[in-house]
Amino acid sequence: MDLYEVLEKRRTYRDYSDREVSDEIVKRVIGAAFKAPTNDHLRQLEFVVVRGRENIAKVIAPLAKNMETFKQLVAEVDESDDKDKMAMFADALPKQQRMLMQSGLLIIPFFRQLTWPLLKPVEQSSLNYFASAWCALENMLLAATAEGLGTVFHIPVSDEAEKIKQIVNAPEGYEFICLLTIGYPAENAFLPKQKEIEPESRIHNNVW
Ligand SMILES: Cc1cc2nc3c(=O)[nH]c(=O)nc-3n(C[C@H](O)[C@H](O)[C@H](O)COP(=O)(O)O)c2cc1C
Repeated sequence: MDLYEVLEKRRTYRDYSDREVSDEIVKRVIGAAFKAPTNDHLRQLEFVVVRGRENIAKVIAPLAKNMETFKQLVAEVDESDDKDKMAMFADALPKQQRMLMQSGLLIIPFFRQLTWPLLKPVEQSSLNYFASAWCALENMLLAATAEGLGTVFHIPVSDEAEKIKQIVNAPEGYEFICLLTIGYPAENAFLPKQKEIEPESRIHNNVW
């Protein structure tokens, strides 16, 4: 696939079939992460790959009690009354746990965090390790798309991150950015309408 076709095809899928994603594909997709730019040149990324719905259920158990917190967060950020956005949330919210188990493959991308604490950055560059990990994640999303797969991720809220780090036995000094699912989309997978934005309308020449 041409890169621009991949960009068009990348979507957030929240409905998956149970068709297994091969280890070779997982390796290629994770390999793409190591091609992303990185702030410290070291690419200190590590990936916990969880296979099988039962194993995934154990890892994501901390999500169950947090769904209310997640809904509250969503309500707080909704200031726009935007129909497309609310249609996306109406579909996405009830699927947060299911979507992470359905394909039977969950990937947790960890990064080495050297400026502490992550959630109290002193300046913008304190977030460089976090930003590098997100660059790597986008590479993975695009690589998975090129493999004919769908992707979705859940951002940990409340105490989910700390609990999940304990469950997977993550070493000190590592944080993860999200819970990533990769899989073959279900035939009837629902895709919310995407916003269409004309780039010209967002480009400000010389000054805004
Ligand atoms: C920083 C960030 C956080 C997101 N968090 C979630 C999440 O927790 N759960 C979820 O289902 N989707 C999440 N999404 C996916 C967005 O809802 C999705 O990208 C958006 O609706 C646009 O749809 P598209 O990816 O199909 O283009 C997140 C996306 C980003 C970039």
